[in-house]
Amino acid sequence: MQQNIVQVGIIGGGLMGKELASALGRWFALNDFPVKAELKAVCDLDVNALQWYEKVPSVKLYTTNYKELLADPSLSVIYVALPHHLHKKYYTEVLEAGKDLIAEKPFGIDYQSASEIAETAEQLGRFVRCSSEMPFLPGAQRVIQEVQSGRIGRIMDIKAGFCHSSDMDPMKPINWKRKSEFCGEIGVMGDLGMHVFHIPLRMGWLPKRVFAQLQKIITQRPDGKGGWTECDTWNNASLATAVEIDGEEIPMMLEMKRLAPGETNSWYIEIYGTEGGVKFNTKDTKALWLFNKGKEQSWQRIDLGSQVAFPTITGSIFEAGFADCFMQMLAAYFMEREGLLENRFGCVTPAEAVMSHKIFQSALLSHQNKSVVEIAYD
Ligand SMILES: NC(=O)c1ccc[n+]([C@@H]2O[C@H](COP(=O)([O-])OP(=O)(O)OC[C@H]3O[C@@H](n4cnc5c(N)ncnc54)[C@H](O)[C@@H]3O)[C@@H](O)[C@H]2O)c1
Repeated sequence: MQQNIVQVGIIGGGLMGKELASALGRWFALNDFPVKAELKAVCDLDVNALQWYEKVPSVKLYTTNYKELLADPSLSVIYVALPHHLHKKYYTEVLEAGKDLIAEKPFGIDYQSASEIAETAEQLGRFVRCSSEMPFLPGAQRVIQEVQSGRIGRIMDIKAGFCHSSDMDPMKPINWKRKSEFCGEIGVMGDLGMHVFHIPLRMGWLPKRVFAQLQKIITQRPDGKGGWTECDTWNNASLATAVEIDGEEIPMMLEMKRLAPGETNSWYIEIYGTEGGVKFNTKDTKALWLFNKGKEQSWQRIDLGSQVAFPTITGSIFEAGFADCFMQMLAAYFMEREGLLENRFGCVTPAEAVMSHKIFQSALLSHQNKSVVEIAYD
């Protein structure tokens, strides 16, 4: 198959920059894929971070100056994986340089920034999508198919969440993600919320109102230099929302938690209906649970393999993991950019990212006033 070569640059070569490099590094594993995405340039202020990319043979430009990277005419797509307070400035400059953007969540530090980034993308006509990879796991894809099939009947109840536990350790040193100045006032919602909202928003389940309980549980952390420093972000967020489906109001309960005992990156979604139901949790990545409404009701466990939207060389009985769904998400990005996504599930759009910020902003207000907040979308 003739492949369209797309050269990619990274700004922010930390945890997620490396994930992108790794996914592009085994791009050939995608079967008959119309785009050959190649990592060509990396920018990071930290020279040690840059050094890691020396083992990536396709990289030709290593720089601490992002303007040098943006001036490279061979690059068409830039992945920006920077702390949240830098999103607006860097995303905007990427777009103004005439590049398409793979953005990281939460797509700006707050609602205002997200709206401005989305507006710039629209005005300049650039192709922009935001990262959220969990829906590209086979189990999550089956959840989407189950909802779209109508087999669930009248949807009665929706639950979704993303739970971490490493912050249970009070001695875990602080990092930028635990400081509002860099992470945003929305705290854990900015870190985990986009992942939780991606499928609901795409299904059209927009919360009409929210009652939020936000918790600051651990407020001091080691500063990594022998002292202690303030940890001022919301650790846990529990959102009770109402969504309208076919003229009926349905409860949708959402949780985003950094202190969820025993949970290591557990992303889940559960949808219950009058005729069926479906549940998936990355805690048990192979398991898809389907509800059977027989005379005796039961939950059927199906062991999944790697049935992915963009097939790869990986055998269909082999299980999928984080690296696989991240690569699938990028495949969705490049396929949609080519206009070839068809009816497959796509990455978070700027409009969805702005909506998620609207919900987080409303959640902050709800918590502050201990009241239910009606949400009006623009
Ligand atoms: N999709 C996901 O599952 C996922 C997971 C973790 C983080 N994220 C998101 O990815 C983004 C980055 O998070 P991370 O975990 O990779 O952070 P990180 O701290 O590991 O990496 C950030 C990198 O940016 C560099 N940097 C900082 N300021 C810079 C500047 N002005 N110019 C160039 N480089 C600069 C740092 O040196 C660091 O190497 C955030 O938006 C975060 O929310 C997404």
